[in-house]
Amino acid sequence: MAEQIVVSGVGVWNPEFTITNEELVNSYNTWANSYNEVHKAQIENGELTAKPLSSAEFIEKASGIKQRYIYQKDGALDIDRMRPNIPERDENTLSDQAQIAVAAAKKALAEANKSASDVDAVIVSCAYTQRAYPAIAIEVQQELGIDGFGFDMLVACSAATFGMHRAYEMIASGNARCVLVINPELVSPQINYTDRDSHFIFGDVATATVLESAETASAEHVYEVLSTKALTKYSSNIRSNFGYMSRANDVDPYGPDKLFHQAGRKVFKEVCPLAAEHIEQHLAKHELTPANVQRWWLHQANINMNTLICKRLLGREASAEEAPIVLDEYANTASAGSVIAFGLHHKDLKSGDYGVLCSFGAGYSIGSLVLKKR
Ligand code: COA
Repeated sequence: MAEQIVVSGVGVWNPEFTITNEELVNSYNTWANSYNEVHKAQIENGELTAKPLSSAEFIEKASGIKQRYIYQKDGALDIDRMRPNIPERDENTLSDQAQIAVAAAKKALAEANKSASDVDAVIVSCAYTQRAYPAIAIEVQQELGIDGFGFDMLVACSAATFGMHRAYEMIASGNARCVLVINPELVSPQINYTDRDSHFIFGDVATATVLESAETASAEHVYEVLSTKALTKYSSNIRSNFGYMSRANDVDPYGPDKLFHQAGRKVFKEVCPLAAEHIEQHLAKHELTPANVQRWWLHQANINMNTLICKRLLGREASAEEAPIVLDEYANTASAGSVIAFGLHHKDLKSGDYGVLCSFGAGYSIGSLVLKKR
């Protein structure tokens, strides 16, 4: 019989600072009014377009987001800066991203009843890494005292599920017994705080999961991974062109197209049906239907997307208990959203209950795990 692989621990770490919609809108609108005043003549003669104002009511209605966590609040709301102020650390100090990764990893290891010596590999999987090399995962590995190996992966919104997918395969192939997957989503440096359409979308967080062989799992809450499923379909509708080529391209490495930008409405329309179909097919592989599933830990980009996907799957609205929403508090945390939902809403499930953990977004990428509580 093939080896049974389980998720035995999950950790969620959030920064101490928050920004409410009202604070964010107040800062943006002050910046926009000042821009419009300074460029009044060019706006009047048509050379420039006036910056439109943002609204907290719009943000909550269009996305469900009420606030977000931020790693360093200083600078992000300052209209003369409009980006967080995070001092660079010297090369002998633990990097910012490794620090938040370690914080989430420790929580996941504690929940899984595991220590560093039990772990064979570390995968850091997220939307951005703060440097190209050495891998953040190797820094985390050293900080936690883990033998074996580590590597980084970038899969935008699906980095967490795709990372768990890799861990599953590494254990299934016998190359590892226990793998730590960490998603340090330090996304605030990539937010364009001067763009009304996207300034509200993201928040910082770090999540981690422990995957291991069922034989070694001793945690209180253990979830059998029935299988993993991944799908990608190329689209530029969610994009960041930030990268090392800017230097050779002779372009501004921080121009608007180098930060997060998207065609939000198109994404909404195209990704919802893809995600619903993907989940349905994944469940069918196990002769399950959406009606058999007790919990939906879905990607957390927009509450209206999750409502629509659940309606397509269930033919009715899912209750808050069935499909927990965390984006009101955390906003879109790139790949970490479905893992936060899992981390905060899994302990009440009963043995034999089914859950689906699913991400969807940039790439496009969709990743899912069908889980069954042991
Ligand atoms: N405040 C006030 N008005 C705003 C605004 C803001 N912050 N941002 C946009 N608007 C305006 C738009 O300019 C537009 O005005 P118009 O009708 O005069 O042109 C109107 O509100 C509607 O904008 P639209 O972009 O169509 O809103 P929406 O309902 O699609 O919601 C998103 C925008 C981004 C919340 C939504 O499209 C979304 O979440 N899409 C999915 C994105 C996603 O999952 N991305 C994954 C990223 S990892």
